[in-house]
Amino acid sequence: MDEHLIKTVNKLQDAFATVGVHNPVDLPQIVVIGSQSSGKSSVLENIVGRDFLPRGTGIVTRRPLVLQLINRAATEPAEGEKKEGNENPNEWGEFLHLPGKKFFNFDEIRDEIVNDTERKTGKNLGISPVPINLRVFSPNVLTLTLVDLPGLTKVPVGDQPKDIERQIREMIMTYTTKPNAIILAVTAANTDLANSDGLKLARDVDPDGARTIGVLTKVDLMDKGTDVIDILAGRVIPLRLGYVPVVNRGQKDIQTKRSIQSALENERNFFEGHPSYQSKAQYCGTPFLARKLNLLLMHHIKITLPEIKAKIAATLAKYRAELEHLGDPLTDAAGQAANTTLSIITEFCAGFRSALEGQSTDLST
Ligand code: GDP
Ligand code: NA
Ligand code: MG
Repeated sequence: MDEHLIKTVNKLQDAFATVGVHNPVDLPQIVVIGSQSSGKSSVLENIVGRDFLPRGTGIVTRRPLVLQLINRAATEPAEGEKKEGNENPNEWGEFLHLPGKKFFNFDEIRDEIVNDTERKTGKNLGISPVPINLRVFSPNVLTLTLVDLPGLTKVPVGDQPKDIERQIREMIMTYTTKPNAIILAVTAANTDLANSDGLKLARDVDPDGARTIGVLTKVDLMDKGTDVIDILAGRVIPLRLGYVPVVNRGQKDIQTKRSIQSALENERNFFEGHPSYQSKAQYCGTPFLARKLNLLLMHHIKITLPEIKAKIAATLAKYRAELEHLGDPLTDAAGQAANTTLSIITEFCAGFRSALEGQSTDLST
């Protein structure tokens, strides 16, 4: 996620928190949908920038994972809390089903997702709509919710129910029907877009395409001489918010534990070195997808601003009343503090508003 956006939203949240208004901006949930093994978990992981999701061939994600990212300022670790090796004491995960246990090692987070999936669904490929709730605390994330979902599959295997397609479809709809959800409709570029489960599922709940971004994965696995240029140009299935082609880590990269850093470098080299994408490499890849998401979030904040302003007005009125009650605000320390906080917020909101107005809200690029 864009550092500038994280800082801006945090300043806003902090300014509000000082006067007791918490989470004024309710950011949309980002929901990843598509066929089984299209690369949903890989895309999500690249956006977050941390390795912690089970990925692989076949049905790996078998329960919804509701991932809450929570921005938290870095602090000096207390004595005895210092972590070994390269673990960061300011970044950790906590599961709802394991209250109080902090996971500083993200490999252990992945193991716990696998274990808890099996606890609810058995080892034989069963599925369950009961979500796994994971919170990740970090100074480097935007307070935001992302949802990883099982992919659509049609033919039951193992312990899967006969009506697996319907059950997974319902599971997906629980998250995509929320008007506040941004849908990442993932399609592998080496499959036919016309048969894309992700796009079909998205169209059912967002027919105007106002909150659906198309993501094309596995561009590196396409047949030689073929590319996604026609799709990007909107000549196949046009999408209002457009498509972003990406290259995630392949199965071999998972086995050799290739880092996200190295994967992103590989992705950049791929698009910059490919004759079809060279001239438009800046519109390709995970960093562009993240920027597009940020723009959507900014747009959302902009349309939420009137509501935020109403909250400010209410807070202002409340403090004015308190100040009057306290007597001369200028001689009263608490009153002065309240006055100062208020002017900071008012100023900040004016600044934020004009910053947004200056921002391009053309989301189609
Ligand atoms: P999901 O089932 O949709 O969540 O898909 P996963 O993220 O688990 O990925 C399924 C398989 O496809 C894994 O083996 C990934 O390594 C592989 N994969 C995903 N995206 C890409 C990509 O862009 N290129 C290549 N070569 N492999 C990919
Ligand atoms: Na998979
Ligand atoms: Mg998955």
